[in-house]
Amino acid sequence: MNEKISLADVRQYFPILTEKIYGRPLTYLDNGATTQKPTQVIEACADIYRKQNANIHRGVHHLSNVCTEHYENARKTVAKHINAAEHSSIVFVRNTTEAINLVANAYGNTRLHVGDEVVVSQMEHHSNIVPWQLLCERIGATLRVIDITDNGELDLHSLEKILCSRTKIVSITHVSNVMGTVNDIKKICQMAHAVGAIAVVDAAQSVPHTVIDVVDLDCDFLAFSGHKVYAPLGSGALYGRKEILQDMQPWMGGGEMIDKVSFAGTTFADPPLRFEAGTPDYVAAVGLATALDFVDSVGLPIIEQHEKQLVDKIINGLKTIGGIRIVGEATNHSSAVSFLVGKSHPYDVGMILDKMGIAVRTGHHCAQPLMERLGIVGTVRASVAMYTTENDIDTLLNGVEFAKNMLS
Ligand code: ALA
Repeated sequence: MNEKISLADVRQYFPILTEKIYGRPLTYLDNGATTQKPTQVIEACADIYRKQNANIHRGVHHLSNVCTEHYENARKTVAKHINAAEHSSIVFVRNTTEAINLVANAYGNTRLHVGDEVVVSQMEHHSNIVPWQLLCERIGATLRVIDITDNGELDLHSLEKILCSRTKIVSITHVSNVMGTVNDIKKICQMAHAVGAIAVVDAAQSVPHTVIDVVDLDCDFLAFSGHKVYAPLGSGALYGRKEILQDMQPWMGGGEMIDKVSFAGTTFADPPLRFEAGTPDYVAAVGLATALDFVDSVGLPIIEQHEKQLVDKIINGLKTIGGIRIVGEATNHSSAVSFLVGKSHPYDVGMILDKMGIAVRTGHHCAQPLMERLGIVGTVRASVAMYTTENDIDTLLNGVEFAKNMLS
């Protein structure tokens, strides 16, 4: 059992939060892009390089065996965190993008045929569009798109109409990286299964903010990045249903993913190693497990409630300023708020906020089809994390008001 950490104390574990930007305190509200790292994660990674560095799964020597044990324990931590029954269902990847590409290639290449359909939504990140587009082009399959409503929710009637016997894969984001919309992903998984398709969940923007239970969701694949959940860049995981992983061909070949190699033909290791060709970033995996332990020490239900209050404060505050368009006002809203300040370009607003030490993301957020649907070029996006304070939000709101006055 991890030692409990009070939400009120979390900031002290994030050294970067005391940095000054242009001489001002850092107000970091770009957590949807990446989160900051607690000392526990920084130290766990530094400690490996100081004391334990070796290549895993290969050595006869002590350090290699220690590192292998840590790597496989990290896999167990990830499995437990998302309630996967088997730790062999967890494939370590670099990020969500790699995880989705893995599924599109290792599953899609052999399971899809000409005329089959893959379903995504209008609110997907490019990483949940382009791998499927490439797959469909390779196979001669069709990419179908679920529409959204004007307030930024998925139109489930549109999904119902699209789903049919040709649908083989439904791949949807749990939470929109732009609008913070929380999709009813459990229902979407049920709807996919009802027509015999598999359900893939892009959980990049939900794993940091809410409890994920792959058994309850009954998804076939679930992908997330470590760096958005306080872990190192280059860490991430793909959960895959055991029977499906077992049946999949590798998508990358090399060391570690084999059973036996000969010029007559190669046989492959069981999952998850079948999908982890080459020397893995063992340090990143341990960093990911350390970060998930940290999150659990604080408690996701507590984090979720705190972040919800902050998101409500941003939305209400922006409405009070006036002349602000909030982009996406779903009933179930989490972690990210997108907005436009009058007719100002998002980049100009972001630049002014930056000079005040406020970090937000501006632009299309790797979601150009969503921007097209909304008829805008981009947004300003503020996204929160467990260490975000009410004071951060006050600073943001003052900054937005200042930017509005400057730009009008
Ligand atoms: N996917 C990240 C974001 O939405 C980079 O900002």
